[in-house]
Amino acid sequence: MSTHTVAIEVPEDCDVEQAGETVEIEVPETEYVLSAARSEGVWLPADCQQGWCTSCAAELLEGEVDQSDAKRYYESDEEADLILPCTAKPESDLRIRACRYDEMLDHRAEHDKPPGRSKR
Ligand code: FES
Repeated sequence: MSTHTVAIEVPEDCDVEQAGETVEIEVPETEYVLSAARSEGVWLPADCQQGWCTSCAAELLEGEVDQSDAKRYYESDEEADLILPCTAKPESDLRIRACRYDEMLDHRAEHDKPPGRSKR
C-alpha cells in the first residue's frame, strides 16, 4: 500500500488551530484526507463526511485524488480543482488549500448544481 505526502495550506481566515500554516501529513492511498488530517490534530471543517454537503471543500493545488466515494461530486468540480477531502483518497503526493466552502458554493451555483444558491 502506498502512502502519499499531503501538504495542507490552512488559510489565515480558517477557523482551525493551524490557521496560517502549511501542515504536512502522510496519507495512505486507502484513507481519506480529512480523517488523516484530523487524526494528526488538524481539525479541518466538515459536516456530513460523505461527500455531499461540501462544507469540507478544498482546492487541489497539486496532485491527483480519487473522489469516487463522494455522494455528490461533479466533473465541473474536478475541472475547477475543487475537492471534498472527506471522501478524497490521494493518488499521488498532494498540495491542497483548505477551507474553500464559499468558493465551492459559488462554483456550484454558477454551474447550476446543488446546493446551488440555497446556501448563499
Ligand atoms: S463533509 Fe460534507 S462533503 Fe465533505
